[in-house]
Amino acid sequence: MAEIVLKRINKQFEKRTIIENLNLTIRDGSFTVLLGPSGCGKTTTLRMIAGLEKPDNGELWIGDRCVNHVPPGERDVAMVFQNYALYPTMTVRENIEFGLINKKVPKRERQQLVEEIVETVGLQDYLNKKPNTLSGGQRQRVALARAMIKKPKVFLMDEPLSNLDAKLRMHMRTELVELHKKLGTTFVYVTHDQLEAMSMGEDIVVMNHGEIMQQGNPLQVYDEPENAFTAQFIGTPPMNMIEKSRIAGLLPVNPHESAVYVGFRPEKVALSSELADGVHIDGVIVTRQVFGAETVYQVQTEFGLIFVRDFLKPRHTSSVVQLFVALSDLHFFDEQGRKMERMGDVHALDEPVRG
Ligand SMILES: Nc1ncnc2c1ncn2[C@@H]1O[C@H](COP(=O)(O)OP(=O)(O)OP(=O)(O)O)[C@@H](O)[C@H]1O
Ligand SMILES: [Mg+2]
Repeated sequence: MAEIVLKRINKQFEKRTIIENLNLTIRDGSFTVLLGPSGCGKTTTLRMIAGLEKPDNGELWIGDRCVNHVPPGERDVAMVFQNYALYPTMTVRENIEFGLINKKVPKRERQQLVEEIVETVGLQDYLNKKPNTLSGGQRQRVALARAMIKKPKVFLMDEPLSNLDAKLRMHMRTELVELHKKLGTTFVYVTHDQLEAMSMGEDIVVMNHGEIMQQGNPLQVYDEPENAFTAQFIGTPPMNMIEKSRIAGLLPVNPHESAVYVGFRPEKVALSSELADGVHIDGVIVTRQVFGAETVYQVQTEFGLIFVRDFLKPRHTSSVVQLFVALSDLHFFDEQGRKMERMGDVHALDEPVRG
């Protein structure tokens, strides 16, 4: 087990800055997910932790060791890649114990380790098969077993499930979470899929353009996004975002002089206007997606399309509706997209002090 600390890390490729002044602490034993759009620098960050890529400057710590000059093989980390990278001519057993043979671990010990690990990942019946006779999920498990057998302090995984079909991916997510519980080792998991991040991560690191936008547990990044990027990257459909100047007339008070954007989650929009204290917007339903338990609508309003997530019986498209959002559900962001206090907080501050 080990905590990982990145201090003021910079990384350029061909004079292009990819990572700038990155400061990140990955808690010992946590399941931490690096999440962000394609090209934001997730893989680069992971490869620097693994030692496959050198930072231009800054410090990288694993446990109580600064590893800047420690080669990958001596960092006590194991990396699992998207494409498994198994040896096709070797059996499952040979693939798993390959690293141990390299390390000259005696045969008896090797066999014992293999048995222990295949049981953990459920591959007992496949030891003598070749990778090309296995399903995607089974291959992924071989890759995991091969990483596990080294008993690393840290597991690094780069989109390891993206080659699997939706159902198997769901299943493997649960398995990875269980595996993490069992091993208690630090897991660093890279994905661009926010659902995957939300369903697996204890700690989510939201990245954009090589910078950390927010780090927190799933509920923190969802309920209390620190910036407009995180607010819109997390959640499907994303948070609705309207320029404040356009709806200022609908807000009963206007305490956020410098706020530029107003955001609200689709599930915070009610399709009826019985409630009094809030923002009311007229609209017409233009599209609907029925998911069974919920329905997602796009409602055309004078402020553009607004996403609504509703848990009642589906309504028809072209229905005229009045949308309602409570003031306490509004998020305010400044011109740079940084969070400002919520409406409720401001009300509390506005209360005259009595005494
Ligand atoms: N070896 C390299 N040489 C030059 N540029 C590179 C190299 N590796 C990565 N880059 C560039 O660095 C940026 C970040 O790449 P990286 O692979 O870290 O992104 P990512 O967040 O993992 O994206 P994805 O979700 O698509 O995998 C990209 O613009 C990429 O083109
Ligand atoms: Mg990548």
